[in-house]
Amino acid sequence: MDDKKRVLSGIQPTGIFTIGNYFGAIKNWVSMQDEYLCNYMIADMHSITVKQDPVVLKNNVLSSLALSLACGIDIKKSNIFIQSHISEHAELCWVLSSFSQFGELSRMTQFKDKSENNKENINAALFTYPILQTADILLYNANLVPVGADQKQHIELSRNIAIRFNGIYGDIFTIPEAFMNIGQAKIMSLSDPIKKMSKSDKNQNGFIGILEEKDSIIKKIKKSVTDSEGIVYFGEGKDGINNLIDIYSSIMDKTREDIQQEFEGKGYGNFKLKVGEVLADYLEPIRIKYNSLINDRSYLEECYKTGALYARKIATETLKKIYDKVGFIGR
Ligand code: TYM
Repeated sequence: MDDKKRVLSGIQPTGIFTIGNYFGAIKNWVSMQDEYLCNYMIADMHSITVKQDPVVLKNNVLSSLALSLACGIDIKKSNIFIQSHISEHAELCWVLSSFSQFGELSRMTQFKDKSENNKENINAALFTYPILQTADILLYNANLVPVGADQKQHIELSRNIAIRFNGIYGDIFTIPEAFMNIGQAKIMSLSDPIKKMSKSDKNQNGFIGILEEKDSIIKKIKKSVTDSEGIVYFGEGKDGINNLIDIYSSIMDKTREDIQQEFEGKGYGNFKLKVGEVLADYLEPIRIKYNSLINDRSYLEECYKTGALYARKIATETLKKIYDKVGFIGR
């Protein structure tokens, strides 16, 4: 086997991607491509835990693929595929379900939040969702999983399930680790900066989509909630400003201290305008690339078909090993 470390991550194809998805996860997906063997997936099987319109979901899967490519996923370096194309995800999920405890699943904060916000449809898959996520990761022997902070608990669970399985059957699974950047792992809502930025936020001013136009981006940043101190620095009680500093820092590759110096004596108006402008300029090439890719259906099809071929090869091999270990007779 190649001695490069392996990476797996996924994103749900539900509606738009926000700059939270981008700075928290996809930017790392892109930067990890040169150093690691990367598998990225559009997690459509995860999406159906919340009610979906099938026509919309199909479109969202394709647009998520196009957007991932537009953000810089290069199919010459990484493998990108659609989760439901690889049936081994569901099969390994079933095996791992026997090694996952009700109690530990009940402690998942995302399950608690999602069932709180989705009272009419607290389905079984919403509960077992982290086992499917574990199967996603373990199938590809991933060492590293680039995600935002909200997924940390799920990755801890994946580690525990893998360690438990290995404790019974020997050294089978690679024990995965979450990969995050300090500062960008949790991009906060612009309208309520103690909450995570989320595409499902009812307040449109709370989030910025990767494909948003310049005017809208600048307007939202200008409107973003901050404190009244008027001095740009990273500090306690300055959640709104801290968030903007982290976004600016990620784009400009500057430290928090550099940014504090740059805006010394300049006030929030000036800072917000600059953040809005650099963010809009930064996202523009992604939007242009996306617009050309989304109309090239045959190219997208070629990408996900090639992706599935590679992914299936790895997944089949892992699952075969696991089936043998647990005592299933080979096909
Ligand atoms: P999803 O689709 O909710 O989000 C995709 C990625 O974006 C990150 N993210 C954020 N990061 C920083 N700040 C934010 N405000 C923010 N919002 C979202 C998420 O942490 C995530 O990394 N269950 C996963 C998808 C998945 C997966 C996997 C991930 C399925 N299988 C296996 C890793 C490995 C999810 O719903 O992500």
